[in-house]
Amino acid sequence: MIVAIDGPSGAGKSTVAKAVAKKLGFSCLDTGAMYRAVAWRAVQDGVPLDDAEACGRIAREKEIAFRHEAGDPVPRRVFIDGDEVTDAIRTAEIDRAVSPVSALPSVREALLGQQRRIGAAGDFVVEGRDIGTVVFPDAAVKVFLTASDEERAHRRVRQNVDRGFGSIDYEEVLADIRRRDAYDSGRKTAPLKPADDAVHIDSTGHYIEEVIEAICELARQSQHRAAL
Ligand code: DC
Repeated sequence: MIVAIDGPSGAGKSTVAKAVAKKLGFSCLDTGAMYRAVAWRAVQDGVPLDDAEACGRIAREKEIAFRHEAGDPVPRRVFIDGDEVTDAIRTAEIDRAVSPVSALPSVREALLGQQRRIGAAGDFVVEGRDIGTVVFPDAAVKVFLTASDEERAHRRVRQNVDRGFGSIDYEEVLADIRRRDAYDSGRKTAPLKPADDAVHIDSTGHYIEEVIEAICELARQSQHRAAL
């Protein structure tokens, strides 16, 4: 069973997806990390970020892998071609680089195949921008998770403070979130938009636990319907 969670940057998708997966006993796939890993490799290699051929080759040929820490069911460590990039893909430089790279159809096509293969392996919570619309249009549960721009910027600043890197300047973070929203929504291939049958959840002003429970309940209802 696939639980698809789409939505804009900073809506809390990663935290929610990992917690939902843990509660349901599912695996979890962070597709944004895959785009970030490709962008990181392109930056390292000095590849122009609009070079569809070279970026597409990275997405096709470099293996992206996720690993668990011992005792943690959620895979949080990210590797590309054997290099660990868990922290390196979360910098402001990669925040900027990932938008043009993820807009390239050559990159999207390569990662789409990988995402479908991974998801076919079992029960997954998959988070991204186009999971319910393109990657898994038949997902049992589709959620479009949003929050106001301001709340998303506040959360991102708090997250950057906690992890000790990334911008902690609220205005800068807010501007970056708005820039990425415009880029993700405006691109031609797989733009950020809710699937027709997605359940919209606006997390502004809600405790994250409420959002997690609401999505778990949707998944349980779907499992119940499937068992009838
Ligand atoms: O969720 P995130 O911020 O880590 O995603 C990084 C970038 O990747 C984001 O700018 C949009 C893009 N992305 C995408 O285009 N499609 C996805 N399924 C996931 C992420």
